[in-house]
Amino acid sequence: MSGLPRRGVFIAFEGGEGTGKSTQGRLLAEALRARGIGVITTREPGGTPGAEAIRRLLLDPPGETGWTSEAEALLFAASRADHVAHLIRPALERGDWVICDRFVDSSRAYQGGAGGLGDAAILALHAFGSAGLRPDLVILLEADEATLAARLAARDGDASDAIGGRPVEYHRAVAAAFRDLATRDPQGFARIDAVGDPQTVHARVLAALEPLLASRVV
Ligand code: TMP
Repeated sequence: MSGLPRRGVFIAFEGGEGTGKSTQGRLLAEALRARGIGVITTREPGGTPGAEAIRRLLLDPPGETGWTSEAEALLFAASRADHVAHLIRPALERGDWVICDRFVDSSRAYQGGAGGLGDAAILALHAFGSAGLRPDLVILLEADEATLAARLAARDGDASDAIGGRPVEYHRAVAAAFRDLATRDPQGFARIDAVGDPQTVHARVLAALEPLLASRVV
């Protein structure tokens, strides 16, 4: 945040495909609004017109070769820089809560971990692009592979994007990288069991947020 005043609270939902991030983000936003808290919900890659344009390039790459790993990481960082500057930072400065479906830890897990670029490269891009902005709390939704496969078959059929459609080993490496990030930063991450109906998982999310709610809301 480059020393700028910051009054809102920034929550990122993270996890592999099918873990229920968007549903849980929506349920959390509704719960916070019911408590009188100003909330915006957004997503990555995307959230602003520029970042949504980059999203289309990432998920449906032009040409036949696809992006190199490095180009992919740069595009994610560029979309995030635009999103932070034009949507997330202004909202936090206004005092709103920001609930974001994926943030930099997705780049750390997918491009840095599964993609093999390493954490230092992703953090360097994030420091340059977005002044290293961190969520106040990352909610990491985790579920076993069989549960996720069943949810994705029901949701996507064969229509997964360029990254979602990568082999099972890639997604296994993503899940392992997320676990590793959470283990190394237990204050910054809440690991939530995402198996169960949406309201059950939502109750777990709210319980994880209780300390932040108690400290921020009067
Ligand atoms: P979505 O399906 O959650 O909308 O995300 C789109 C895809 O982009 C998903 O496969 C995860 C991937 N992704 C990355 O690889 N790196 C990132 O930094 C982000 C935000 C998403």
